[in-house]
Amino acid sequence: MSKTGKYQEIYKQIESVVGGETDQIANMANTAALLHEAFGFWWTGFYIVKGGQLVLGPFQGPVACTRIGFGKGVCGTSWSRRETIVVPNVHEFPGHIACSSLSQSEIVVPMFRDNEVYAVLDIDSKELSTFDETDKDWLEKIVRLL
Ligand code: SME
Repeated sequence: MSKTGKYQEIYKQIESVVGGETDQIANMANTAALLHEAFGFWWTGFYIVKGGQLVLGPFQGPVACTRIGFGKGVCGTSWSRRETIVVPNVHEFPGHIACSSLSQSEIVVPMFRDNEVYAVLDIDSKELSTFDETDKDWLEKIVRLL
């Protein structure tokens, strides 16, 4: 199945799973699980803005760093720039925070509430250049469901 076809399927599943639930953590947890399983990513999860930092939220994959500062790493940069960041090769991203030495590429999508970033979706891959405009468009659409 094409990447777009997979995202179409996953979008419907996430819509139905989060549709009847108002708890943000529960919905982030199921969204991470659905994306992680469907695509076989290395790490899929959320960081939530708390007390001026990004704090680790629901995720699937290996143990990760718990706190990331504003403007730090790919996650903190997405937060400060208020935009999705696609990193084809994490070793070339200045300030990248290596929670796992096996990560090679990454995408971080900011999530907005009342025009403020309240969380980010972070996905890591063990291959280079995994993420492109298709991932960006679909993941931005998916986080709007939460
Ligand atoms: N690589 C991220 C840190 C989080 S882990 O990838 C789960 C960053 O540079 O912000």
